[in-house]
Amino acid sequence: MSKSFPKSGTPWADLKAQMQEMATSDIDWRHGRNGYNVFFAGPDVIEVIKEAYTMFQSENGLNQGAFPSLKTMEDEVVEMALDLFNAPEGAAGGMSSGGTESIILAVKSCRDRAKAQGKDVSKANLVIPYSGHPAFNKAGHLLGVEVIRTAIDDVTRLPDLGAYEAAIDDNTIMCVGSAPAFPSGLVEQIPEMSEIARARDLWFHVDACVGGYFAPFAELNGVELTPWDFRNPGVSSMSADLHKFGYASKGASTVLYRTAELHSFQATDFNVWPSGQMKTPTLAGTRPGGAIAAAWAVMNYLGVEGYTAKAKVILETRAKLEQGLSALGYTVYGASKLMIINFGYDGLDLFKLWAALNKRGWWPGATTEPPALHMMLTPAHEAAMDDFLTDLALATEEAKSDDAEKADEIRYS
Ligand SMILES: Cc1ncc(COP(=O)(O)O)c(C=O)c1O
Repeated sequence: MSKSFPKSGTPWADLKAQMQEMATSDIDWRHGRNGYNVFFAGPDVIEVIKEAYTMFQSENGLNQGAFPSLKTMEDEVVEMALDLFNAPEGAAGGMSSGGTESIILAVKSCRDRAKAQGKDVSKANLVIPYSGHPAFNKAGHLLGVEVIRTAIDDVTRLPDLGAYEAAIDDNTIMCVGSAPAFPSGLVEQIPEMSEIARARDLWFHVDACVGGYFAPFAELNGVELTPWDFRNPGVSSMSADLHKFGYASKGASTVLYRTAELHSFQATDFNVWPSGQMKTPTLAGTRPGGAIAAAWAVMNYLGVEGYTAKAKVILETRAKLEQGLSALGYTVYGASKLMIINFGYDGLDLFKLWAALNKRGWWPGATTEPPALHMMLTPAHEAAMDDFLTDLALATEEAKSDDAEKADEIRYS
């Protein structure tokens, strides 16, 4: 421990300078050098979310009686989301701090509803393809729900529906599909999966954390997808993150339910302590007002037209990247049509390739199965694409060498 709690204060100007200095070693996301983690839609969008966040940064999203402004904004964010995802009349939901929290909340609601219906949940499980996000295992661990992961096809990267169906047993309370899955960027077979669940009267969750606020706008640009949202009558709940392709400030996701009754199992209501009733809708107690405000602001600032225009830029950038990859001899894995692209070079050591790109100022993502690079394209990648392809060509040659430098590990943390 080298830094002790400061005895006296430091002027803000000095602190700001220190922080700016620290940020100089961070990846240059403003110029699209990142493969994930920041979703930059342009300086005007940053200005909107920054101001909106700042206006409500001190307000507490938990106390919406005291802050009706935040109640109005959260209610409207949810209504806009339900509209976007074709939810039926009577659907409900709320905001949370991110995809992981939305997923935990959906699993909690499902488990508590099953319990309320008199089911024995002591051995409850949920069934999810191998491609599903680790957040489901976090949820399972916390909530005492076993997570059964089922096979995906080696070539298509899509779930094997036979294996999925076969894994369901008497203890299954939830089935899950992703739209899209993070590793492949593929929208899974949601209509078939939701019917498998519906036929057994099981809760079906669509994890649209990464793509929920991208896919509808890709569809408006002509990308054809099988229906992946509440258009499927078997979909019980959905998670979709605003702090990804909603371009909101971090700490913003939506968790949505087909009915208010399903949603009613999400909150925790407690009153056996000296301060009376405390009903918290999410895992958090205090909630950042700024995250709600910034999400509301950016959704209204961009609107369908703005998001559709951003999606167009991303889709064009993807087409350019795919062309460049093919010229360099790369393989794109899975037939993803959205913003995630997973690509590898036969026989090339991924760890050497990653190091050679990183040395040139890039921070791509990666998959281990297949060993390949992985990028989530944002509007910022349009201007970066020529440089990326130039550096990828150089990095590919460099990584072929026996004594090329190797990254120790590639991990999402
Ligand atoms: C499909 C999917 N689900 C869930 C999550 C978790 O979201 P968060 O990192 O906001 O908790 C992610 C994050 O990338 C994701 O891609």
